[in-house]
Amino acid sequence: MISKKIESAINDQILLEELSSRVYLAMASWCEVQGLQGVANFLYKHSDEERMHQLKLIRYLNDREGYAELQALPKPEIKCKDIEELFTQVLKHEQLVSKKINDLVDMSLEEKDHATFNFLQWFVSEQVEEESLVNNILAKIKLAGDSKMGKFHIDNFLASLDD
Ligand code: FEO
Repeated sequence: MISKKIESAINDQILLEELSSRVYLAMASWCEVQGLQGVANFLYKHSDEERMHQLKLIRYLNDREGYAELQALPKPEIKCKDIEELFTQVLKHEQLVSKKINDLVDMSLEEKDHATFNFLQWFVSEQVEEESLVNNILAKIKLAGDSKMGKFHIDNFLASLDD
């Protein structure tokens, strides 16, 4: 049986993962209409991954005799002038997700909930990978520069990533 405090914090994380999925979906659609199909495909896949993270949390909470209760989502606003700004926003978002996961880990230790602590280790590793991936993409975007050829290369590079 999970404590109400951890149940509530996991429900917050479920909302954040669902929000991540929707933000990346909105970003993918924005890239698609700019003609950046490779970037869009990468973000569509990434949106699916966030949905998988959400589902993982839902099933864990329900398995532990908690209740994963979905919340209303705000409309995602895409405000960026180019893909460098877009991926800077992705990085900031992933840093926020990492912080929230770390807070959850701290809470699981305070509550002596070892099952949740153990479950969360997958998310801790996943966040290291996600931040590293986005940092690498940002480094490539900076290398490519602002030219049309640079954008073309970035689009092809992201199309080639498995995510
Ligand atoms: Fe599920 Fe990208 O954090």
